[in-house]
Amino acid sequence: MNTEEQPISEEPSQVDEAPSPDGPNAAPLIEVNNLSIDFDGNCILSGITRSITRGQTVAVIGESGCGKTVFMKTLVALLTPTTGTVLFDGVNLNRLTPAQLAHTRRRFGFVFQNAALFDSMNIFDNVAFPIRQNEPTTGEDEVRQRVRKHLVEVGLPEDVAGKFPAEISGGMQKRVGLARALVLQPELIVYDEPTTGLDPIMSDVINELILHTRRLYPVTSVVVTHDMHTARKVADRVMMFYPRRMLDKGQSQILFDGPPSQLEHAEDRRVRQFVRGEAGDRLREMSRAMA
Ligand SMILES: Nc1ncnc2c1ncn2[C@@H]1O[C@H](COP(=O)(O)OP(=O)(O)OP(=O)(O)O)[C@@H](O)[C@H]1O
Ligand SMILES: [Mg+2]
Repeated sequence: MNTEEQPISEEPSQVDEAPSPDGPNAAPLIEVNNLSIDFDGNCILSGITRSITRGQTVAVIGESGCGKTVFMKTLVALLTPTTGTVLFDGVNLNRLTPAQLAHTRRRFGFVFQNAALFDSMNIFDNVAFPIRQNEPTTGEDEVRQRVRKHLVEVGLPEDVAGKFPAEISGGMQKRVGLARALVLQPELIVYDEPTTGLDPIMSDVINELILHTRRLYPVTSVVVTHDMHTARKVADRVMMFYPRRMLDKGQSQILFDGPPSQLEHAEDRRVRQFVRGEAGDRLREMSRAMA
């Protein structure tokens, strides 16, 4: 029995050429207009207007609690804007009926922070779940073939299929989460903290898988992360959010939006401090609070 983790498959399972994010045919897949999100009057996001081009990989960075996950969930209609709109492929997600939304959600893949696998299902059934749920007429032979293909693509050994989530490592669980996100061949994949809790080697395996997925499929990706190595390695665009409560009215909540190579040279000191991991203003605030 093969118990070793496999190298990531280099066999493309789909031949479509991913569009260049900056090419002349670049078109927005996602358009966010004047988005705001409040929870019980507590403003988390406001005045966010941005587009994400088809094929782009966008890293969303920023300190804990600044609203990265809220932003990501809003893009895939897991949260409803308090004001403003989110268009996916030209369609306002919040105007869809529940049935239309369920249909549109098939075009999204989610990779959650903790992999969010079903503990009571083995790995095969976890990865098969979206197919069985969304394509009930698909025969078991095809389900088996698709599950195997995606497990191979994320470099997992065959014998992992029969195991339960608790029987595999955190890094393997994250790979299973990615395989599950890919089975419906989504156009948009959102990753929430894909490398959190992993050792540096396994983090880099996940980074490579994100890049590999981008090479295999013409997918648009939004990667929420604290990990600057991930942001620099996988993204062609980085957006840095800042907590709304720490800004004056009218100030932009997005302090940086550009290629990762420009992060170090950002005009805003708070961006440079964040990417260098310097406490900066936070240390001064803490000393004031403790005085
Ligand atoms: N469903 C909700 N109801 C009420 N408040 C919420 C909800 N979801 C998020 N929040 C609040 O919104 C703020 C931003 O949360 P979010 O999870 O987006 O932060 P984050 O930037 O992803 O942080 P982290 O890096 O720690 O994951 C937090 O103060 C959080 O408590
Ligand atoms: Mg988060």
